[in-house]
Amino acid sequence: MTTWLNMSLQDGASPIMEQLIFFHDHTLMIMLMIITTVMYMMTTLLWNKHTSRFMLEGQLIETTWTITPAIILVFIAMPSLRLLYLMDEIHNPAMTLKAVGHQWYWSYEYSDFTKLEFDSYMIPQEENQASTFRLLDTDNRIVLPMNSPIRLVVTAADVLHSWTIPSLGVKTDATPGRLNQVSFSINHPGILYGQCSEICGANHSFMPITIESVSANQFINWVSSLSESSDDWKQVLVS
Ligand code: CUA
Repeated sequence: MTTWLNMSLQDGASPIMEQLIFFHDHTLMIMLMIITTVMYMMTTLLWNKHTSRFMLEGQLIETTWTITPAIILVFIAMPSLRLLYLMDEIHNPAMTLKAVGHQWYWSYEYSDFTKLEFDSYMIPQEENQASTFRLLDTDNRIVLPMNSPIRLVVTAADVLHSWTIPSLGVKTDATPGRLNQVSFSINHPGILYGQCSEICGANHSFMPITIESVSANQFINWVSSLSESSDDWKQVLVS
C-alpha cells in the first residue's frame, strides 16, 4: 500500500507489476534524454544569430530529426506491446475469482466452490481500530493463494466501477452487462489494498478492495471452513 511521501509506484506484488515498473523507468529515462536535449537546444537558441548568407535548406538535418523520433518511439512501443500482450495472457489459472461492483461495495464469488460468496464493505471510521487502515480496510477480505495463477472476472450490478489494485498492476473496469477478465499471481504473503477507480457515485471513495495473500495450504483451510465442495478442490490445487 501507499505510505507517507510515496510519490512513485507502489512496490510490485506480481510479476506483471514488476515488469510495468521496469517499463515505467525505461520510458522515463528516454523522456529524460529528450527533455535534456530539447532544453539544451532551446537555451542555445537564445544566442543564435537569426541570419545566414548560405543556408537555404538542410535536407540532412530534416531527415535526421524526422527519423530519430520515430526510432525512439519504436524503443518505447516494442516493450509496451510486449507487456500489453503479456497482461492479456491467461496462464492456465488455478482458480477464478469473480468481483461484482455495487453502489457502494464489492461482492465476490469463488465460482470454483459452491456457496462461497460474500459482500465486502469498507470498515467505517467510527469502527476503525488500530489494526485497520482508514478508507482501505474491508469487513470481509478476499483470501487468495500466493504463487498461483488466478483468473479474475469483473462485472458490475448497477453503474461503472473499476477493480484496481496498484501493487498487482490490475485495473479493470466493472461494467454492467459485461464480463472483463484479467489474470495475475501474487508474489508474497501479506495484505494488498486497492480502491474503486471509476467515478461511480457519492460513495465512490468508500468501496476499497482488500486482498489477503496466504499460502496454498492456508487457502485450502480457509475454503474448507466455508465451502461445501472443497474436497474435490484440494486435489486440483495440490496437483
Ligand atoms: Cu465504485 Cu467508484
